[in-house]
Amino acid sequence: MERTLIILKPDAVQRRLIGRIIQRFEDKGLTIAGMRLMRISRELAQKLYSAHEGKPFYPRLMEYITSGPVVVTVLQGNRCIEIARALMGKTFGYEAAAGTIRGDFGASGSFNLVHGSDSAESSSTEIPLFFTEQELLEYSPASVDWVFPKVDS
Ligand code: RTP
Ligand code: MG
Repeated sequence: MERTLIILKPDAVQRRLIGRIIQRFEDKGLTIAGMRLMRISRELAQKLYSAHEGKPFYPRLMEYITSGPVVVTVLQGNRCIEIARALMGKTFGYEAAAGTIRGDFGASGSFNLVHGSDSAESSSTEIPLFFTEQELLEYSPASVDWVFPKVDS
């Protein structure tokens, strides 16, 4: 099954929104394969956001993502990259639709609570930055055949 890297950014942790944001992904039926509370170093941030190096907002992004603890998690499920991005909403809270994580919990044009891989290619480079294969658990929650039924495929 597909996997995606999700990061609850420093504002999500400082605002005590960890539980409520994780709940959105669990409610949708995605499975947590790995999870860690950590602080992202500058070196790691540079790898994570290498695609944005040189852009005007890059220095601010580096400052933001390294400014405090984050929760890093790998979610699993069919089409989970697309599903997680839809749950997150547009990049900033002021433009994100109500009902999405960014739309419901934020209004800033700088801080946006959550990161999610934007493609299969991104997830395959992002996940190994944070987790070894051994740290990601393969298991099948009792609900999985109802959330991702075989008739779909
Ligand atoms: P993310 O990578 O964090 O999931 O966010 P995203 O795909 O929705 O947005 P992306 O374009 O990849 O940008 C990465 C992060 O950089 C910051 N950003 N600031 N114009 C700006 O000031 C600007 N644009 C992007 C945000 O923190 C965004 O999440
Ligand atoms: Mg992105």
